Amino acid sequence: MPIVDIHTHVYPPSYMELLKSRSTVPYVRSIPPTNSPRLFVLPSEDPPGTASTGRPIGPEYYDIAQKIAFMDTHNIDISVISLANPWLDFHPSSGAAAAAEALNNDLNATCDKFPGRLFAFGALPMSASIEDIVSEIKRLSGMKYVRGVVMGTSGLGKGLDDERLNGVWAVLEETGQTVFLHPHYGLPKEVYGPTGGEEYGFVLPLALGFPLETTIAVSRMLLSGVWDRYQGLSVLLAHSGGTLPFLAGRLESCIAHDGKLLREGKIANRRTVWDILQNNILLDAVVYSEVGLKAAVDVAGADRVLFGTDHPFFPPLEKNGEREKWLSVTTNYKAIKDAFGPGEMEKVEGVLGGNAVRLLRLVV
Ligand code: URA
Ligand code: ZN
Repeated sequence: MPIVDIHTHVYPPSYMELLKSRSTVPYVRSIPPTNSPRLFVLPSEDPPGTASTGRPIGPEYYDIAQKIAFMDTHNIDISVISLANPWLDFHPSSGAAAAAEALNNDLNATCDKFPGRLFAFGALPMSASIEDIVSEIKRLSGMKYVRGVVMGTSGLGKGLDDERLNGVWAVLEETGQTVFLHPHYGLPKEVYGPTGGEEYGFVLPLALGFPLETTIAVSRMLLSGVWDRYQGLSVLLAHSGGTLPFLAGRLESCIAHDGKLLREGKIANRRTVWDILQNNILLDAVVYSEVGLKAAVDVAGADRVLFGTDHPFFPPLEKNGEREKWLSVTTNYKAIKDAFGPGEMEKVEGVLGGNAVRLLRLVV
């Protein structure tokens, strides 16, 4: 059974040029004394001049040969690549549709260089008109290696419970493409303390802000009835659903006890979070522990959890050689193996790759 990485990012060379041309987040700049390029990407790193020094960014972000080498080092047969955050969210509306088209053509052509080893989630021009977004989704559905779209939580600027997105969900459902829902914006940095938590590096926004952002976004989709209207809509949640597996029961209980929702008739005839977790939501296995992985499997089923790496993020801090295995990857491999018993090899193989091949139709 192949090993498939469904959570693995790229910044194609044209996107790198875009990042280098900018001076507000997201941007890439060489900072003295080393003058090697650094990536400033999170909202908390804006404006320039905050204490953040960004993160190193090298060819592992844009050179596809490095992706393939990483795959080989970690025994990964197939990767479903996606543009990394913040995608095209920041792009002015004028030109966004053309930028998405160029990027997606580039992604598809990159996959074509390694047939059978690479597939992709396309990027959407979320600042363009709904018509342009819908037409890019339709175009993606005809691309040989594209199996869905990567999307942030901001939607058209107001979140994913925005009714203006109905046409987007409808065409994604109709064309059988999966939405890979990924965080970027985190939480307001005030929640991390008077300094915004900068004394702790990126730990608070990445470990907690990202997963909570995803949890809130998907809860708003649920509460606004997205899956009642689009019962076949498939959404793959980054980082094992943020905290959704753990909080699903509390979410349902709060809904069942909400007087406003009751008065507005929004409690009867709705699909529960448990139903949606088992039928519409896929969870990646990027959760770094047996406990988190077991929660993901408990709520979604072992046949709906999919291995991922988050490459090229979370590289080892000290490099000990080109073919060295990354701790961030071996931790996730170990969590998958530890979460299942000795007689459950089939489930392990499913999470490692079989589920992705089946659910995303990963055959050329
Ligand atoms: N940091 C990011 O900005 N994005 C990721 O996907 C992971 C870490
Ligand atoms: Zn990621």
